[in-house]
Amino acid sequence: MDGSPVVLITGASGGIGAATARAYAGRGARLVLTARSAGKLEELAQACEQAGGRAVTQIADVTDAEAVRRAVELAQREFGGLDVVVHTAAVVAYGRLSQVPEPVWDRVVDVGVRGTANVARESLRVFEAAGQGHLVIIGSVLGQITAPRMGSYAVSKWAVHGLARTLQQEARQTPGVHVALVSPGGIDTRIYRMAATYVGHAGSPPPPVLSPEAVARKVLRVVDKNQRGGAVGPLNPVMRLGFELVPWVYDRLVGPLFNLLALSRKPGPNGEGNVFRSSEDVEKSP
Ligand SMILES: NC(=O)c1ccc[n+]([C@@H]2O[C@H](COP(=O)([O-])OP(=O)(O)OC[C@H]3O[C@@H](n4cnc5c(N)ncnc54)[C@H](OP(=O)(O)O)[C@@H]3O)[C@@H](O)[C@H]2O)c1
Repeated sequence: MDGSPVVLITGASGGIGAATARAYAGRGARLVLTARSAGKLEELAQACEQAGGRAVTQIADVTDAEAVRRAVELAQREFGGLDVVVHTAAVVAYGRLSQVPEPVWDRVVDVGVRGTANVARESLRVFEAAGQGHLVIIGSVLGQITAPRMGSYAVSKWAVHGLARTLQQEARQTPGVHVALVSPGGIDTRIYRMAATYVGHAGSPPPPVLSPEAVARKVLRVVDKNQRGGAVGPLNPVMRLGFELVPWVYDRLVGPLFNLLALSRKPGPNGEGNVFRSSEDVEKSP
């Protein structure tokens, strides 16, 4: 993409969203940074301006369709259009179906599914009118496989993958509009320690653990080359093959491996994490 694209990023207050913002800022992009943590967004906006981009921030909970619409309108008002939307916002809860309180379970699915639909609807409305634009949705390897005690997250990501694929089919009618799905494996971000947990441990990224910058590079490449997306994580295809081809082996191994590789060693308190509150709030008063 030529010039300095206008890029809106959800979930920009940390992890993959923030890394993507910094990568685009290095190219001189004009950024709209959204999430629920005002202070972190402001810090990131300053870093993006220092890196050569321009940035404005907007508090938006992705489950609030009006707030998402306001963020898209901000891009149009401030920068005169919208070229790329990178949707990363999501939350996680650990626990079996019977362990996770119903409102927490529902909220994880809601942020994932309705949040993605809200972001996609508002982005595509603008892209379709302009005849061009890129929507990049961050899915997960857990949108292709499942793991015990991550049911709400897996359900949300399977739905997100289904929605992304549907949107790719629908986008065939508008040749300048591109929808991509990027599916990371274990990435070193705070999503694990911010997650709600009801298993007496926080989560931890399963190896091999990559950096959020690796996902950001993939996002930029996908947009630059009009690609449909793909995995970030060398073991994603292996896990997917095991899940599909030898489900009896997969199901036997996934529980013990999950305990060993996807939970922190140290026991910790159970709680709602950042499911209902911003990550910034949780860091200030855990
Ligand atoms: N880390 C991994 O290993 C991994 C693996 C596979 C897929 N992913 C996916 O990658 C994406 C980014 O995650 P990450 O690892 O970078 O974690 P992260 O740093 O926690 O980023 C998630 C972002 O979503 C925001 N958010 C949460 N709920 C929101 C809501 N209701 N409305 C608006 N924003 C909300 C959070 O900020 P606020 O609290 O400030 O709102 C945060 O900035 C997610 O879709 C995740 O599922 C991550």
